Amino acid sequence: MAGLLDGKSVLITGGGGGIGRATALACAREGARVAVADVSAEAARETVAQVNSAGGQAISFSGDVTHDTDVRAMVEGVVGAYGRLDCAFNNAGIAGWQVEAAGKKTAEWSEEAFDRMIAVNLKGVWLCMRHELPQMQAQGGGSIVNTGSIAGLVGLPTSSAYVAAKHGVLGLTKTAAIEYAEAHIRVNAVCPGYIKTRMTEETMRRRGEAILAQVPFHRMGSPNEIAEMVVWLCSDRASYVSGAAYNVDGGWMAI
Ligand SMILES: NC(=O)c1ccc[n+]([C@@H]2O[C@H](COP(=O)([O-])OP(=O)(O)OC[C@H]3O[C@@H](n4cnc5c(N)ncnc54)[C@H](O)[C@@H]3O)[C@@H](O)[C@H]2O)c1
Repeated sequence: MAGLLDGKSVLITGGGGGIGRATALACAREGARVAVADVSAEAARETVAQVNSAGGQAISFSGDVTHDTDVRAMVEGVVGAYGRLDCAFNNAGIAGWQVEAAGKKTAEWSEEAFDRMIAVNLKGVWLCMRHELPQMQAQGGGSIVNTGSIAGLVGLPTSSAYVAAKHGVLGLTKTAAIEYAEAHIRVNAVCPGYIKTRMTEETMRRRGEAILAQVPFHRMGSPNEIAEMVVWLCSDRASYVSGAAYNVDGGWMAI
């Protein structure tokens, strides 16, 4: 049976981590040639090893999405290796605890933490699109999926700059979707709820019970459950879908 992404080349940032790695494996399973990019070269290589041992095709890049030159190199690298860039999953991101802002209310965030959060989670997505869009335009189309969050839809106490960045990602997504519709580029976002990855380990240890009490499914999502949505958005099955943000959150946002 044909795969949903047969013959497509896909770039995944943050591909060394939970959601990115699961998506790399899912895209490869569906027939895509995958490029895994991560600030951790080792993590990216591990994802590639997993894809290859599952019978897929992948290459890795190390780079920081906050550096324009790194992002340019990732996009040029994929095109050099696979000849084109059909799909991009702009997914690299960090949480508050990674900038020492865990538990801090809006006025308590340091300027450094705020700037770093915006740089990775918002500017990083823009830098990726800045290089992906012209490439896709030149080749006649493509599909971009940005990782938003339920934090891009509602406020979450003690997650100030994270929430601001993710709201921004949805704004970038909608704007690019309109601007590049005529270039046959679809731009969408996926908005995960609480997903079992390294990012959420500490928060779930501290207040997992209270969080899951609010989620209608009363459980965390798996990275795979996000990957399924990304695969579909990347695929031609989603040919009339652009500028949308899809929640994958166990029903949380329906409350
Ligand atoms: N886990 C959740 O519950 C959840 C919920 C909503 C949204 N998200 C979003 O999903 C995305 C993936 O998160 P995850 O849960 O898989 O976390 P994760 O920590 O497992 O993976 C994130 C990956 O991004 C990489 N990364 C971090 N900064 C980078 C940079 N500057 N340049 C390149 N790579 C970088 C990390 O090395 C890591 O491999 C993030 O954008 C996150 O905000 C996660």
